[in-house]
Amino acid sequence: MSSTEKTYSVAILGATGLVGRTMLDVLDERGFPVREIIPLASERSRGREIQFRGKTFLTQVPSSEVFSRADIALFSAGAAASRQWAPAAAEAGAIVIDNSSAFRMDPDVPLVVPEVNSEAMFRPDGRLSTIIANPNCSTIQMVIVLKPLHDRYRIRRVVVSTYQSVTGKGKAGRDALEDELTGRVPESFVHVHQIAFNAVPHIDVFQENGYTKEEMKMVNETRKIMGDESLSVSPTTVRIPVYGGHGEALNIEFDNDFDIEEVKDLLADAPGIMVQDDPSANVYPMPLTSYEKDEVFVGRIRRDFWHPKTLNMWIVADNLRKGAATNAVQIAEKLVGKL
Ligand SMILES: NC(=O)c1ccc[n+]([C@@H]2O[C@H](COP(=O)([O-])OP(=O)(O)OC[C@H]3O[C@@H](n4cnc5c(N)ncnc54)[C@H](OP(=O)(O)O)[C@@H]3O)[C@@H](O)[C@H]2O)c1
Repeated sequence: MSSTEKTYSVAILGATGLVGRTMLDVLDERGFPVREIIPLASERSRGREIQFRGKTFLTQVPSSEVFSRADIALFSAGAAASRQWAPAAAEAGAIVIDNSSAFRMDPDVPLVVPEVNSEAMFRPDGRLSTIIANPNCSTIQMVIVLKPLHDRYRIRRVVVSTYQSVTGKGKAGRDALEDELTGRVPESFVHVHQIAFNAVPHIDVFQENGYTKEEMKMVNETRKIMGDESLSVSPTTVRIPVYGGHGEALNIEFDNDFDIEEVKDLLADAPGIMVQDDPSANVYPMPLTSYEKDEVFVGRIRRDFWHPKTLNMWIVADNLRKGAATNAVQIAEKLVGKL
Protein backbone atom coordinates (compact mmCIF):
# COMPACT_ATOMS: atom_id res chain seq x y z
CA MET A 1 0.00 0.00 0.00
CA SER A 2 1.55 3.35 -1.00
CA SER A 3 1.20 6.38 1.34
CA THR A 4 -0.96 8.19 -1.24
CA GLU A 5 -3.36 5.29 -1.80
CA LYS A 6 -6.91 5.86 -0.67
CA THR A 7 -7.82 3.84 2.41
CA TYR A 8 -11.21 2.60 3.51
CA SER A 9 -13.17 2.24 6.70
CA VAL A 10 -14.45 -1.36 6.75
CA ALA A 11 -17.28 -2.47 9.04
CA ILE A 12 -17.61 -6.21 9.64
CA LEU A 13 -20.99 -7.32 10.96
CA GLY A 14 -20.35 -10.74 12.52
CA ALA A 15 -16.69 -9.99 13.26
CA THR A 16 -16.60 -12.49 16.14
CA GLY A 17 -17.90 -15.37 13.99
CA LEU A 18 -16.01 -17.91 11.86
CA VAL A 19 -16.57 -16.01 8.60
CA GLY A 20 -16.01 -12.57 10.18
CA ARG A 21 -12.67 -13.63 11.67
CA THR A 22 -11.65 -15.14 8.35
CA MET A 23 -12.54 -11.84 6.65
CA LEU A 24 -10.10 -10.05 8.95
CA ASP A 25 -7.36 -12.55 8.03
CA VAL A 26 -8.07 -12.24 4.31
CA LEU A 27 -8.19 -8.41 4.35
CA ASP A 28 -4.81 -8.42 6.06
CA GLU A 29 -3.17 -11.09 3.86
CA ARG A 30 -4.32 -9.47 0.63
CA GLY A 31 -3.10 -6.02 1.71
CA PHE A 32 -6.53 -4.43 1.50
CA PRO A 33 -6.17 -0.64 2.01
CA VAL A 34 -7.88 -0.46 5.41
CA ARG A 35 -7.98 2.81 7.36
CA GLU A 36 -10.16 1.53 10.17
CA ILE A 37 -11.90 -1.71 11.09
CA ILE A 38 -15.33 -1.40 12.73
CA PRO A 39 -16.06 -4.82 14.28
CA LEU A 40 -19.76 -5.42 14.90
CA ALA A 41 -21.56 -8.31 16.53
CA SER A 42 -24.45 -8.98 18.88
CA GLU A 43 -24.91 -7.47 22.34
CA ARG A 44 -23.13 -10.60 23.72
CA SER A 45 -19.83 -9.46 22.21
CA ARG A 46 -20.00 -5.74 22.90
CA GLY A 47 -16.55 -4.48 23.95
CA ARG A 48 -14.68 -7.64 22.84
CA GLU A 49 -11.21 -6.81 21.50
CA ILE A 50 -10.46 -7.55 17.82
CA GLN A 51 -6.85 -7.31 16.62
CA PHE A 52 -6.02 -6.13 13.09
CA ARG A 53 -2.51 -5.27 11.86
CA GLY A 54 -1.27 -4.69 15.39
CA LYS A 55 -4.16 -2.41 16.38
CA THR A 56 -7.00 -3.21 18.74
CA PHE A 57 -10.59 -2.39 17.83
CA LEU A 58 -13.52 -2.81 20.21
CA THR A 59 -16.59 -4.70 19.04
CA GLN A 60 -19.74 -2.59 18.84
CA VAL A 61 -23.37 -3.35 18.07
CA PRO A 62 -24.78 -2.22 14.70
CA SER A 63 -26.48 1.17 14.35
CA SER A 64 -27.07 3.66 11.52
CA GLU A 65 -24.57 5.99 13.19
CA VAL A 66 -21.86 3.30 13.13
CA PHE A 67 -22.51 2.49 9.46
CA SER A 68 -22.29 6.18 8.51
CA ARG A 69 -18.55 5.92 9.35
CA ALA A 70 -18.02 2.92 7.03
CA ASP A 71 -17.17 2.97 3.33
CA ILE A 72 -17.65 -0.79 2.98
CA ALA A 73 -19.69 -3.08 5.23
CA LEU A 74 -19.02 -6.82 5.09
CA PHE A 75 -22.00 -8.67 6.56
CA SER A 76 -21.75 -12.21 7.99
CA ALA A 77 -24.23 -12.36 10.85
CA GLY A 78 -27.09 -14.33 9.32
CA ALA A 79 -30.09 -13.39 7.19
CA ALA A 80 -32.15 -11.79 9.98
CA ALA A 81 -29.38 -9.34 10.89
CA SER A 82 -28.81 -8.60 7.19
CA ARG A 83 -32.49 -7.87 6.60
CA GLN A 84 -32.48 -5.61 9.63
CA TRP A 85 -29.27 -3.72 8.90
CA ALA A 86 -28.26 -3.86 5.22
CA PRO A 87 -30.77 -1.26 3.97
CA ALA A 88 -29.84 1.05 6.88
CA ALA A 89 -26.12 0.64 6.22
CA ALA A 90 -26.60 1.36 2.51
CA GLU A 91 -28.76 4.36 3.38
CA ALA A 92 -25.98 5.59 5.69
CA GLY A 93 -23.55 5.52 2.76
CA ALA A 94 -21.75 2.17 3.00
CA ILE A 95 -21.55 -0.38 0.19
CA VAL A 96 -22.81 -3.63 1.74
CA ILE A 97 -21.35 -7.00 0.73
CA ASP A 98 -23.71 -9.51 2.28
CA ASN A 99 -22.79 -13.13 2.99
CA SER A 100 -26.26 -14.18 4.11
CA SER A 101 -29.10 -15.51 1.95
CA ALA A 102 -31.26 -12.42 2.64
CA PHE A 103 -30.89 -10.64 -0.72
CA ARG A 104 -29.34 -13.25 -3.01
CA MET A 105 -32.42 -13.83 -5.14
CA ASP A 106 -33.60 -10.20 -5.04
CA PRO A 107 -33.68 -9.16 -8.71
CA ASP A 108 -32.31 -5.72 -7.76
CA VAL A 109 -29.30 -7.16 -5.92
CA PRO A 110 -26.34 -8.57 -7.86
CA LEU A 111 -25.09 -12.01 -6.81
CA VAL A 112 -21.38 -11.99 -7.50
CA VAL A 113 -18.47 -14.39 -7.87
CA PRO A 114 -15.66 -12.19 -9.23
CA GLU A 115 -14.18 -14.94 -11.43
CA VAL A 116 -17.58 -15.45 -13.07
CA ASN A 117 -19.69 -12.25 -13.19
CA SER A 118 -18.00 -9.24 -11.55
CA GLU A 119 -19.69 -6.97 -14.14
CA ALA A 120 -23.01 -7.67 -12.35
CA MET A 121 -21.89 -5.33 -9.51
CA PHE A 122 -22.74 -2.40 -11.74
CA ARG A 123 -26.28 -1.48 -12.76
CA PRO A 124 -27.08 -1.09 -16.49
CA ASP A 125 -26.61 2.71 -16.10
CA GLY A 126 -23.07 2.12 -14.74
CA ARG A 127 -23.91 2.95 -11.11
CA LEU A 128 -22.62 0.63 -8.40
CA SER A 129 -25.20 -1.44 -6.55
CA THR A 130 -25.28 -0.44 -2.84
CA ILE A 131 -26.00 -4.00 -1.69
CA ILE A 132 -24.04 -6.84 -3.31
CA ALA A 133 -24.78 -10.44 -2.34
CA ASN A 134 -22.19 -13.17 -1.83
CA PRO A 135 -23.52 -16.58 -2.93
CA ASN A 136 -23.83 -19.69 -0.79
CA CYS A 137 -20.51 -21.46 -0.18
CA SER A 138 -21.51 -24.63 -2.07
CA THR A 139 -22.63 -22.55 -5.05
CA ILE A 140 -19.46 -20.44 -5.24
CA GLN A 141 -17.04 -23.33 -5.62
CA MET A 142 -19.28 -25.05 -8.17
CA VAL A 143 -19.88 -22.04 -10.48
CA ILE A 144 -16.15 -21.25 -10.61
CA VAL A 145 -15.62 -24.69 -12.16
CA LEU A 146 -18.76 -24.67 -14.31
CA LYS A 147 -18.12 -21.26 -15.92
CA PRO A 148 -15.17 -22.12 -18.24
CA LEU A 149 -16.82 -25.43 -19.17
CA HIS A 150 -20.18 -23.80 -19.89
CA ASP A 151 -18.48 -21.20 -22.10
CA ARG A 152 -16.76 -23.92 -24.12
CA TYR A 153 -19.19 -26.88 -24.24
CA ARG A 154 -22.55 -25.47 -22.99
CA ILE A 155 -23.77 -27.28 -19.89
CA ARG A 156 -27.18 -28.94 -20.04
CA ARG A 157 -27.40 -30.55 -16.60
CA VAL A 158 -25.33 -30.91 -13.42
CA VAL A 159 -25.89 -33.61 -10.80
CA VAL A 160 -24.07 -32.58 -7.63
CA SER A 161 -23.62 -34.32 -4.29
CA THR A 162 -21.95 -32.31 -1.53
CA TYR A 163 -19.81 -33.39 1.41
CA GLN A 164 -19.96 -30.28 3.61
CA SER A 165 -17.78 -29.31 6.54
CA VAL A 166 -19.28 -28.69 9.98
CA THR A 167 -17.78 -25.18 9.86
CA GLY A 168 -20.48 -24.31 7.31
CA LYS A 169 -22.79 -23.97 10.29
CA GLY A 170 -20.55 -21.45 12.05
CA LYS A 171 -19.08 -21.64 15.53
CA ALA A 172 -21.98 -23.74 16.77
CA GLY A 173 -21.48 -26.28 13.97
CA ARG A 174 -17.77 -26.62 14.63
CA ASP A 175 -18.18 -26.84 18.41
CA ALA A 176 -20.92 -29.46 18.10
CA LEU A 177 -18.51 -31.90 16.44
CA GLU A 178 -15.84 -31.28 19.10
CA ASP A 179 -18.39 -31.76 21.89
CA GLU A 180 -19.72 -34.99 20.40
CA LEU A 181 -16.21 -36.36 19.85
CA THR A 182 -15.33 -35.68 23.48
CA GLY A 183 -18.48 -37.44 24.68
CA ARG A 184 -20.50 -34.38 25.70
CA VAL A 185 -24.13 -35.13 24.85
CA PRO A 186 -26.11 -32.05 23.77
CA GLU A 187 -29.73 -31.32 24.64
CA SER A 188 -30.43 -31.06 20.91
CA PHE A 189 -28.20 -31.76 17.92
CA VAL A 190 -26.93 -28.67 16.00
CA HIS A 191 -26.74 -30.80 12.82
CA VAL A 192 -30.23 -32.29 13.42
CA HIS A 193 -28.67 -35.67 14.25
CA GLN A 194 -25.34 -36.75 15.74
CA ILE A 195 -22.64 -35.59 13.30
CA ALA A 196 -19.64 -37.42 14.81
CA PHE A 197 -19.01 -40.64 12.81
CA ASN A 198 -22.08 -39.81 10.71
CA ALA A 199 -23.29 -38.15 7.48
CA VAL A 200 -26.51 -36.12 7.56
CA PRO A 201 -28.32 -35.52 4.23
CA HIS A 202 -30.14 -32.50 5.62
CA ILE A 203 -28.69 -28.95 5.43
CA ASP A 204 -31.08 -26.08 6.19
CA VAL A 205 -34.82 -26.72 6.17
CA PHE A 206 -36.84 -28.96 3.86
CA GLN A 207 -38.98 -27.28 1.20
CA GLU A 208 -42.36 -28.50 -0.04
CA ASN A 209 -40.71 -29.99 -3.15
CA GLY A 210 -38.65 -32.45 -1.05
CA TYR A 211 -35.35 -30.61 -1.50
CA THR A 212 -33.65 -28.66 1.30
CA LYS A 213 -33.19 -24.91 1.21
CA GLU A 214 -29.43 -25.46 0.78
CA GLU A 215 -30.13 -27.59 -2.29
CA MET A 216 -32.50 -25.02 -3.79
CA LYS A 217 -29.88 -22.30 -3.18
CA MET A 218 -27.53 -24.30 -5.43
CA VAL A 219 -30.24 -24.53 -8.12
CA ASN A 220 -31.40 -20.91 -8.11
CA GLU A 221 -28.14 -19.10 -7.33
CA THR A 222 -26.26 -21.02 -10.05
CA ARG A 223 -28.80 -19.92 -12.67
CA LYS A 224 -28.64 -16.30 -11.51
CA ILE A 225 -24.83 -16.11 -11.47
CA MET A 226 -24.39 -17.91 -14.79
CA GLY A 227 -27.21 -15.86 -16.32
CA ASP A 228 -28.85 -19.00 -17.70
CA GLU A 229 -32.30 -20.00 -16.45
CA SER A 230 -32.21 -23.17 -18.58
CA LEU A 231 -29.38 -24.75 -16.55
CA SER A 232 -30.57 -27.88 -14.70
CA VAL A 233 -28.91 -28.48 -11.33
CA SER A 234 -29.89 -31.61 -9.41
CA PRO A 235 -28.34 -31.44 -5.91
CA THR A 236 -28.09 -33.56 -2.76
CA THR A 237 -26.37 -31.72 0.10
CA VAL A 238 -24.81 -33.68 2.97
CA ARG A 239 -23.08 -32.58 6.17
CA ILE A 240 -20.07 -34.69 7.16
CA PRO A 241 -17.77 -34.49 10.21
CA VAL A 242 -14.79 -32.71 8.63
CA TYR A 243 -13.03 -29.39 8.94
CA GLY A 244 -11.21 -27.63 6.14
CA GLY A 245 -13.68 -27.39 3.31
CA HIS A 246 -16.61 -28.67 1.34
CA GLY A 247 -16.25 -31.44 -1.26
CA GLU A 248 -18.60 -31.82 -4.23
CA ALA A 249 -18.94 -34.73 -6.68
CA LEU A 250 -20.11 -33.28 -10.01
CA ASN A 251 -21.61 -35.11 -13.00
CA ILE A 252 -21.86 -32.59 -15.84
CA GLU A 253 -23.72 -33.20 -19.10
CA PHE A 254 -22.89 -30.92 -22.03
CA ASP A 255 -24.57 -30.04 -25.33
CA ASN A 256 -21.24 -30.58 -27.08
CA ASP A 257 -18.67 -33.34 -26.75
CA PHE A 258 -15.32 -32.60 -25.13
CA ASP A 259 -11.74 -33.74 -25.09
CA ILE A 260 -10.62 -34.71 -21.59
CA GLU A 261 -7.16 -33.15 -21.93
CA GLU A 262 -8.73 -29.93 -23.18
CA VAL A 263 -11.05 -29.94 -20.15
CA LYS A 264 -8.02 -30.18 -17.86
CA ASP A 265 -6.28 -27.34 -19.71
CA LEU A 266 -9.40 -25.12 -19.59
CA LEU A 267 -9.70 -25.66 -15.84
CA ALA A 268 -5.98 -25.15 -15.21
CA ASP A 269 -6.08 -21.84 -17.11
CA ALA A 270 -9.28 -20.54 -15.48
CA PRO A 271 -9.00 -18.00 -12.64
CA GLY A 272 -9.29 -19.31 -9.07
CA ILE A 273 -8.88 -22.99 -9.97
CA MET A 274 -6.07 -25.39 -9.10
CA VAL A 275 -6.11 -28.78 -10.83
CA GLN A 276 -4.84 -31.58 -8.56
CA ASP A 277 -5.35 -34.68 -10.65
CA ASP A 278 -2.76 -37.44 -10.64
CA PRO A 279 -4.44 -40.69 -9.54
CA SER A 280 -1.23 -42.67 -10.13
CA ALA A 281 0.39 -40.68 -7.31
CA ASN A 282 -2.78 -40.56 -5.15
CA VAL A 283 -3.15 -36.85 -5.88
CA TYR A 284 -6.67 -35.39 -5.70
CA PRO A 285 -8.23 -32.60 -3.62
CA MET A 286 -9.31 -33.16 -0.01
CA PRO A 287 -10.84 -30.88 2.65
CA LEU A 288 -7.72 -30.99 4.82
CA THR A 289 -5.46 -29.92 1.96
CA SER A 290 -7.79 -27.08 0.89
CA TYR A 291 -7.85 -25.67 4.45
CA GLU A 292 -7.02 -21.93 4.56
CA LYS A 293 -6.50 -21.81 0.77
CA ASP A 294 -8.36 -19.54 -1.61
CA GLU A 295 -8.54 -21.70 -4.73
CA VAL A 296 -11.13 -24.24 -5.80
CA PHE A 297 -9.27 -27.55 -6.18
CA VAL A 298 -10.35 -29.96 -8.94
CA GLY A 299 -9.44 -33.61 -9.42
CA ARG A 300 -10.75 -37.07 -10.42
CA ILE A 301 -11.54 -35.55 -13.85
CA ARG A 302 -12.88 -38.39 -16.01
CA ARG A 303 -15.39 -39.15 -18.72
CA ASP A 304 -18.74 -40.68 -17.72
CA PHE A 305 -18.53 -43.72 -20.03
CA TRP A 306 -22.18 -44.62 -19.49
CA HIS A 307 -23.70 -41.33 -20.63
CA PRO A 308 -22.73 -39.34 -23.74
CA LYS A 309 -21.02 -35.92 -23.50
CA THR A 310 -20.85 -36.23 -19.73
CA LEU A 311 -17.99 -35.59 -17.32
CA ASN A 312 -17.30 -36.56 -13.69
CA MET A 313 -15.10 -34.62 -11.29
CA TRP A 314 -14.50 -33.92 -7.62
CA ILE A 315 -14.00 -30.37 -6.34
CA VAL A 316 -13.02 -29.01 -2.91
CA ALA A 317 -12.75 -25.48 -1.48
CA ASP A 318 -12.41 -23.98 1.99
CA ASN A 319 -15.96 -22.81 2.69
CA LEU A 320 -14.82 -20.10 5.11
CA ARG A 321 -12.32 -18.70 2.56
CA LYS A 322 -13.45 -18.88 -1.10
CA GLY A 323 -16.92 -19.97 0.01
CA ALA A 324 -17.38 -16.81 2.08
CA ALA A 325 -14.65 -14.41 3.26
CA THR A 326 -12.30 -14.45 0.26
CA ASN A 327 -15.14 -14.01 -2.22
CA ALA A 328 -16.45 -11.02 -0.21
CA VAL A 329 -13.00 -9.42 0.00
CA GLN A 330 -12.44 -9.97 -3.74
CA ILE A 331 -15.71 -8.09 -4.35
CA ALA A 332 -14.47 -5.31 -2.02
CA GLU A 333 -11.23 -5.17 -4.04
CA LYS A 334 -13.30 -4.33 -7.13
CA LEU A 335 -14.56 -1.25 -5.23
CA VAL A 336 -11.07 0.12 -4.58
CA GLY A 337 -10.66 3.38 -6.46
CA LYS A 338 -14.39 3.55 -7.22
CA LEU A 339 -15.66 4.89 -3.86
N1 LIG B 1 -19.67 -20.75 7.68
C1 LIG B 1 -19.68 -20.75 6.35
O1 LIG B 1 -19.07 -21.61 5.68
C2 LIG B 1 -20.46 -19.72 5.59
C3 LIG B 1 -20.28 -19.66 4.22
C4 LIG B 1 -20.98 -18.71 3.49
C5 LIG B 1 -21.84 -17.87 4.15
N2 LIG B 1 -21.99 -17.94 5.49
C6 LIG B 1 -22.91 -17.00 6.14
O2 LIG B 1 -22.16 -16.11 6.95
C7 LIG B 1 -22.92 -15.77 8.11
C8 LIG B 1 -22.12 -16.05 9.38
O3 LIG B 1 -21.67 -17.37 9.39
P1 LIG B 1 -20.58 -17.88 10.45
O4 LIG B 1 -20.26 -19.24 10.00
O5 LIG B 1 -19.49 -16.90 10.64
O6 LIG B 1 -21.47 -17.94 11.80
P2 LIG B 1 -20.99 -17.81 13.33
O7 LIG B 1 -19.63 -18.37 13.51
O8 LIG B 1 -22.10 -18.39 14.11
O9 LIG B 1 -20.92 -16.22 13.59
C9 LIG B 1 -22.09 -15.42 13.60
C10 LIG B 1 -21.69 -13.97 13.81
O10 LIG B 1 -22.84 -13.15 13.68
C11 LIG B 1 -23.00 -12.37 14.87
N3 LIG B 1 -24.43 -12.17 15.11
C12 LIG B 1 -25.39 -13.11 15.23
N4 LIG B 1 -26.59 -12.53 15.40
C13 LIG B 1 -26.38 -11.19 15.38
C14 LIG B 1 -27.25 -10.05 15.53
N5 LIG B 1 -28.55 -10.18 15.69
N6 LIG B 1 -26.69 -8.82 15.46
C15 LIG B 1 -25.35 -8.67 15.28
N7 LIG B 1 -24.49 -9.71 15.14
C16 LIG B 1 -25.02 -10.96 15.20
C17 LIG B 1 -22.34 -13.20 15.95
O11 LIG B 1 -22.03 -12.36 17.04
P3 LIG B 1 -21.81 -12.96 18.55
O12 LIG B 1 -20.41 -13.52 18.57
O13 LIG B 1 -21.97 -11.73 19.38
O14 LIG B 1 -22.86 -13.99 18.76
C18 LIG B 1 -21.11 -13.68 15.19
O15 LIG B 1 -20.17 -12.65 15.08
C19 LIG B 1 -24.25 -16.53 7.96
O16 LIG B 1 -25.16 -15.67 7.30
C20 LIG B 1 -23.89 -17.67 7.07
O17 LIG B 1 -25.00 -18.15 6.35
C21 LIG B 1 -21.30 -18.84 6.23
